[in-house]
Amino acid sequence: MNAAARGAEGRPVSTQALLAVDNLCTSFFTDDGEVRSVDGVSLCLERGEVLGLVGESGSGKSVMGLSLMGLVDSPGRIVGGSIRLDGVELVGAPEHELRRLRGPRIGMIFQDPLMSLNPVLRIETTLIETLMAHESINHADAHRRALAALADVGIPSPAQRMRGYPHEMSGGMRQRVAIAAALLPGPQLLIADEPTTALDVTIQSQILHLLQNLVAARGLALIMVSHDLSVVASLADRVAVMYAGRIVESGPVRRILSQPAHPYTRGLIRSAPVMSEPGTPLPQIRGVPPSPLARPAGCAFAPRCDRASARCTAMPALQEVHAGHAVRCWHPHPRTGAPGEVA
Ligand SMILES: Nc1ncnc2c1ncn2[C@@H]1O[C@H](COP(=O)(O)OP(=O)(O)O)[C@@H](O)[C@H]1O
Ligand code: SF4
Ligand SMILES: [Mg+2]
Repeated sequence: MNAAARGAEGRPVSTQALLAVDNLCTSFFTDDGEVRSVDGVSLCLERGEVLGLVGESGSGKSVMGLSLMGLVDSPGRIVGGSIRLDGVELVGAPEHELRRLRGPRIGMIFQDPLMSLNPVLRIETTLIETLMAHESINHADAHRRALAALADVGIPSPAQRMRGYPHEMSGGMRQRVAIAAALLPGPQLLIADEPTTALDVTIQSQILHLLQNLVAARGLALIMVSHDLSVVASLADRVAVMYAGRIVESGPVRRILSQPAHPYTRGLIRSAPVMSEPGTPLPQIRGVPPSPLARPAGCAFAPRCDRASARCTAMPALQEVHAGHAVRCWHPHPRTGAPGEVA
């Protein structure tokens, strides 16, 4: 990639980027046809940067995360595009190469921590095995590192917890252990896929706070996936909004929240509880996302959009409307103001 080139988000694409995703496409080949879950996504992440990836359920966020990890299972596969992690191409890389990178270079946590923690293994076994799989380290040192990792994520009485099983812990504690397991091999990039969605509100904010501290202390790059814009608002440097497999808007978090230009982003913000006036009913985006097997031609948001015109039957490109702020829309909201206002 050329250092002077501009990415699909309108930002200059740096050859130094930790992660450079270009026109990534991932499909599932089902009995009903091809489901294009990720449809030409390009994005860039610098070291230490936090990107919030938001969108309603079914927009392709999890498949995007799994694609980055090389974990898309049959009947799905990456059908096009490029993922470069620190300059290394991951698309088409052999499985043994991906296994070498997963853990030490790129890690992932999930909504359900049991996706990363084996329920039949003691916590210490999971953590020590994770370390020994990637490093030539003896058991005693691995044990010491695992214990320190549990303390780092705020597990009380870590020595005692090491001997326990995941099912003996609360959801919040389990997610802390999953974070410790993902960070133990020292990845530069963590993908967190709805890590707080299954948790009570107070525990949610504790886990978000923990992630915020870990990212800052370790200079970690983080892709924070959530259906809830308010979850990423406090954490992210930049936000990318996904709809029907595509990025429809991206930019610095403050700008996206204060001056969203895409009708879908405005709808997401207006329907987020913590971002609206107390006591006012939450306006919901009308309609539902299209079935991936029957997306309309052109802009997939058109059937739900108040601004749609005949032009919207053609696919708009993701275009920069302001430095670092790109929008995929023929009729973006042109002026500043609260997302509730009609522009
Ligand atoms: N194993 C699968 N087989 C078929 N379709 C799938 C599979 N996994 C995901 N999809 C489809 O991919 C699309 C995106 O899913 P997903 O990434 O899970 O959405 P999100 O995480 O944004 O809620 C959805 O339409 C979903 O039905
Ligand atoms: S391209 Fe058209 S239909 Fe799509 S979001 Fe913009 S105005 Fe609405
Ligand atoms: Mg998901």
